[in-house]
Amino acid sequence: MSSRQTVLVLDFGSQYTQLIARRVRELNVFSEIVPHSISLNEIGQSNPAAIILSGGPSSVSSDRAPRFNAGMLDLDIPVLGICYGLQILMDHFGGRVHSDGDGEYGLAMIQHENPGKLLEGVPGQSKVWMSHGDRVEQVPEEWIISARSTNNVVAAVEHLTRPIFGTQFHPEVLHTTEGKRILSNFLFKISDCKPDWTPSSFISETMQRIRKTAGNKTVLCGVSGGVDSAVVAKLLDRAIGNQSKAVFVDHGLLRKNEGKYISGTLQSALEIPIEHCDYSERFLKQLRGVSDPEKKRSVIGEQFIRSFEHIAEQNNGFDFLAQGTLYPDVIESGGALGTADVIKSHHNVGGLPAEVGFLLIEPLRELFKDEVRDVGRKLGIPDIILGRHPFPGPGLAVRIIGEVTPKRLNTLREADDIFIQTLNERGIYDEIWQAFCVLIPVKTVGVMGDQRTYENLISLRAVTSVDGMTADWYRMPHDILNEISNRIVNSVTGVNRVVYDISSKPPSTIEWE
Ligand code: XMP
Repeated sequence: MSSRQTVLVLDFGSQYTQLIARRVRELNVFSEIVPHSISLNEIGQSNPAAIILSGGPSSVSSDRAPRFNAGMLDLDIPVLGICYGLQILMDHFGGRVHSDGDGEYGLAMIQHENPGKLLEGVPGQSKVWMSHGDRVEQVPEEWIISARSTNNVVAAVEHLTRPIFGTQFHPEVLHTTEGKRILSNFLFKISDCKPDWTPSSFISETMQRIRKTAGNKTVLCGVSGGVDSAVVAKLLDRAIGNQSKAVFVDHGLLRKNEGKYISGTLQSALEIPIEHCDYSERFLKQLRGVSDPEKKRSVIGEQFIRSFEHIAEQNNGFDFLAQGTLYPDVIESGGALGTADVIKSHHNVGGLPAEVGFLLIEPLRELFKDEVRDVGRKLGIPDIILGRHPFPGPGLAVRIIGEVTPKRLNTLREADDIFIQTLNERGIYDEIWQAFCVLIPVKTVGVMGDQRTYENLISLRAVTSVDGMTADWYRMPHDILNEISNRIVNSVTGVNRVVYDISSKPPSTIEWE
């Protein structure tokens, strides 16, 4: 049984499920997303201090409506149902949920009726975020309505004698002005949570866990130049010192000057020796003729492991391989829920070959990106390293549509370098969550001087996001776009046209492949 306090978030498929977990963690309580069908035994094992039922797209009246394990309600653990989570509680206790498609979407006002513990300290009227088709028409016996929306929809309920609560609105969405107070009431006034999930507690717990797992064995740690693997390397160094070895596997798919950055700036900031291992020829050879994005990912995943095995052979073996896998990677690869559709197999989770000669250590597996940065800051890693945009493991290979060739890599590298340099010069790099170029090897006609050109297309991609799960395109000032386009077309051989990607995620993804 875990000693750490946990809040379980049962996932019924809402787009906001992760937000719930994040908001709980922002209140310094650890929370974990689990399938709605989690068994009583599994709940018992994680010994949660509270349980939250997420929203979801289903209707409780449907035959296929996802359910929870009803025995959970007899464990005397406080439960909060949000949106569909509320409706399924109402249905379970004998209330009536009505489905006429006449829902509420967006901002609404709620007003108190019998504000109990959940709405303690919340003003009598407040703004909330609603997103529901069905609504509660009759609350069960032994339940009271604590608030209604001004459209007369039941907005918050609580059980008279048991610690079970529900809100029709979404306290996890920032538009709900009192959302933080409501969640805080649930965690600290209703449940017995302690705000002890902090970067420091994560660091000391993780160091202990690494020591226990590794014993006196050795760990190979791949450092990619990104934030996550830098934090992993530092944690390992703190926990087990020389028993871990940091290596940079150069797959030849990196941005311009990235090798220099890793052996210079990064190495001295982390104060850890990082060995540069050049495997670029092998990677590029294996990628020859490969155009399919998923195939590229699996070739690269496979080559990474073969490179680590080769490094191990030359160093008398390693028992473990450390990776900077994050919580969203685990969820997006279908790992955490088992039910999520695999959108892209990230090389550091789903793209690994079946045969891996190492055990994996993934110390950041339960963190969101912003939490990794907080942990990194606490470990003394400078902001210039922590503030870098994310870069995918398969590198530029997923930013070249079609086959990856040395010539295409060079073109993309030059264009990308100009793009990022300009963002830095114009002081907007930190406003953007991730920015990069994509090479589209489709030829279009242009004219330079008096010459007709017939060259490739570069797309600029810049997005704002919190954790990469959803993203919006960055509203880049036109004069900056103009400068970037001119610089690229005038100085990168083989490019005569630049376009700006204005798609958000969803329905697009951040990377093109
Ligand atoms: P997408 O394209 O899925 O990207 O919207 C979300 C975030 O994940 C990064 N990404 C990857 N990172 N291996 C990684 O380590 C991968 O295979 C991979 N694919 C996408 C992407 O750069 C963005 O930050």
